[in-house]
Order: sequence, then structure tokens, then C-alpha cells
Amino acid sequence: MESDARIYVAGHTGLVGSAILKSLQKQGFSHIITKSSSELDLRNQHEVTNFFHDTKPEYVFLAAAKVGGIHANAHYPADFISDNLAIALNIINASYTYKVTKLVNLGSSCIYPKYCTQPIKEEYLLTGALEPTNEPYALAKIAAISLCTSFHKQYHCNFISLMPTNLYGNQDSFGFHNSHVLPALIRKFILAKMLQDNDYASVKKDLLLSNDIPHDMNYDEIDTFLTNLGIQKNSISLWGSGNAYREFLHADDCADAAVYSMNNIDAEQAGICINIGTGIDCTIKDLAELIAHKVDYKGHILFDKNKPDGTPKKLLCVDKAISLGWRATIPLEKGIESVIMHYQNSIHLNLALRY
Ligand SMILES: NC(=O)c1ccc[n+]([C@@H]2O[C@H](COP(=O)([O-])OP(=O)(O)OC[C@H]3O[C@@H](n4cnc5c(N)ncnc54)[C@H](OP(=O)(O)O)[C@@H]3O)[C@@H](O)[C@H]2O)c1
Repeated sequence: MESDARIYVAGHTGLVGSAILKSLQKQGFSHIITKSSSELDLRNQHEVTNFFHDTKPEYVFLAAAKVGGIHANAHYPADFISDNLAIALNIINASYTYKVTKLVNLGSSCIYPKYCTQPIKEEYLLTGALEPTNEPYALAKIAAISLCTSFHKQYHCNFISLMPTNLYGNQDSFGFHNSHVLPALIRKFILAKMLQDNDYASVKKDLLLSNDIPHDMNYDEIDTFLTNLGIQKNSISLWGSGNAYREFLHADDCADAAVYSMNNIDAEQAGICINIGTGIDCTIKDLAELIAHKVDYKGHILFDKNKPDGTPKKLLCVDKAISLGWRATIPLEKGIESVIMHYQNSIHLNLALRY
């Protein structure tokens, strides 16, 4: 990418998109194009076509999507498949029509079969049944990959797909009902630690900032509200057995991979897609214990085995990315420390967090 190239970051307010934007700005790119969903609804084909006609982007990062955890996927399956299909189809079609030089599509590791040989290689795509809890979302993501490879095959478009593992970072969503496991655990443990310290003023501030409770809720009612979410002074209850293995990548590492790929990897080399991860996983129990340690929470960690674990293990093989010149650099412990610090500072300083 030339320093004055017209670069469109779709989804620039999100976890991944904001990290890509930050990385591009840091590297001095001067012509970055962004639109929030209220300015441009990417599900609307007409709006997207007009936008590409007016702005003529040369490079496109496709990081816009409807994203959520197990709970959100279970409750809104129609939205997860239809929004994500529409967003990908509209952007990829318009990128072809308006002759975008290169497009990097962000997918997700949930595209791989539920019971997949580990570590997961790119060629395992479509070799088995998907995890049912997020199948609609995964199918939309698989369709987006196929759009990229098909436009490359038929029209020689330089469109590539990256498959990041589970991501986390400061711009994550920390809502009780729509967040992924890592930010959900960070918030739960921070709240439990506040309870342990009898710091109800901070607990209330957190819950008011996220609009989770009304202003007039008293401390006893707050205790009940948090108990229903499994958050207590002396114990914290988490979904699943704790034995599922997951890999986590900091969003800044993912953004680095996206910008690196835009600059260095062509569709021919990328093939179907490229896995983006650390190549290292841990159990949810290990993760919970690490976060508890980092926030100095001393209560018991309980696991609700009646709740689903999701895929038992999900570790990406990152050999292809490494062979193409990219690897992750942020260790999990350091990344978690920085997110905890960001969250705590935001609560104390009344700064906006995403819920
Ligand atoms: N988070 C993860 O753990 C993870 C892991 C692997 C892969 N990924 C992939 O990375 C990509 C980005 O995920 P993320 O975690 O950054 O998501 P996110 O934080 O939820 O952000 C989603 C972004 O998409 C935009 N968007 C959603 N619907 C839109 C619409 N109809 N029109 C215009 N913009 C819309 C949002 O804009 P507004 O804020 O303006 O609504 C926001 O900027 C996704 O493809 C996802 O599959 C994420």
C-alpha cells in the first residue's frame, strides 16, 4: 500500500477494525476511509454500491460483521447468518465492480468442523459438521471465504481471507449477554473482586455505565442481580466444565497480521485462507485462574457443567502464516494485564466501554 492510497476499513469501530485503523494511522497512511453502521448500513446493497462509487477505495479491510458469543448466537441465529452474508456479499461484489486492488477479509476459526484434528490446518475446512451453536454464523463466514476464492478464480481479484482465532483487546464488548469468553471473564472477576473489597460504589458505577441496572437499585438488590449472573464475593460460577481448550490472540496482533497480509501476501499464496493465531492454547479453567490471579480475586471458581462447552478444543496450526512471514508477538499474560488495566481505568475515569 502506498502511503496516500485510499484504504477503506469496514468495521473500524469494532475490536479488529479499530486495531487495524490504529495500526494504519501509526504507519502514516493518510487516506483512510471509515463509516459507522449508522452512516452506512453494509447490509444494504444500494448504499454499499453508492459508497464504493463515490469513494473508490483501492484497498479494503473487511472487518465489519455481526459478532457475538454462544448466548447471542443461540438467540439470534437468523441475524447472524443474514447480516453476515449480506455484509460480505455487498462489500466483495462492490470491490469487484469498482476494481479494488486488494481486499483482506476477516473470517473466524469457527468455520472449522467441531471435531477437527488438532492443530487445525486450513485444508480441514468443510471436512466435517460445524459446532451447532454458531453454525449460521460460521456458514456466512465460509460463504465469504468462497466469495474471495471464487472472485480470484474467475476474475483474478486479489481478495484474500484470514482466519483469526479467538480475539481479545481493549475495544472488546464486555456485555453480560453478548461478549466472548475472555472479556466476559475479565469483567466478572473485576466485579467479584470489587464485591470482595466491599467496594459497592465501584460495582454500581460499572453496572450503571453499562445500563445493566436502574439508578435506584440498592446494594442488596445489586448483590441479587450479580448472584444471578454467578458473581459473588466468595465464589464465581462460570459456564461449562472449564476443560475446553481455547487459543487467544490480541487484536493488535490480528491487526498487524491484516496489514502485513495486505502488503505482502497475494491471493495465489493465500490459497483458501490463512490461519492467524498464536499456536498456543489453554483451558478455560487455566484462563479463569490467570485472570483471578491478575485481579487478586481470592474466591472459589465454580464451573456449571450443565451449560455447554462448545467445541472441546480449537487450536489453529499457524505454520502457513509463519511460512509467509508473519507471527504473533503479544503473550497472553501481557495482553490480559493490559485489558484489565484498561477496563479498570475506564470504570474509575468514567470512560466509555463497549457493552
Ligand atoms: N472477536 C473475535 O473474537 C473474533 C475472532 C475471530 C474473528 N473475528 C472476526 O473479525 C471480524 C470483526 O470482528 P470484531 O470482533 O471486531 O467485531 P465487533 O467488535 O463486533 O465490530 C463489528 C464491526 O462491524 C460493524 N458492523 C456490524 N454490522 C454492520 C452493518 N450492518 N453495517 C456497517 N457496519 C456494521 C460495527 O459497526 P458499528 O459499531 O458502527 O455498529 C463494528 O465496527 C469479524 O469478521 C469476525 O468474524 C472476530
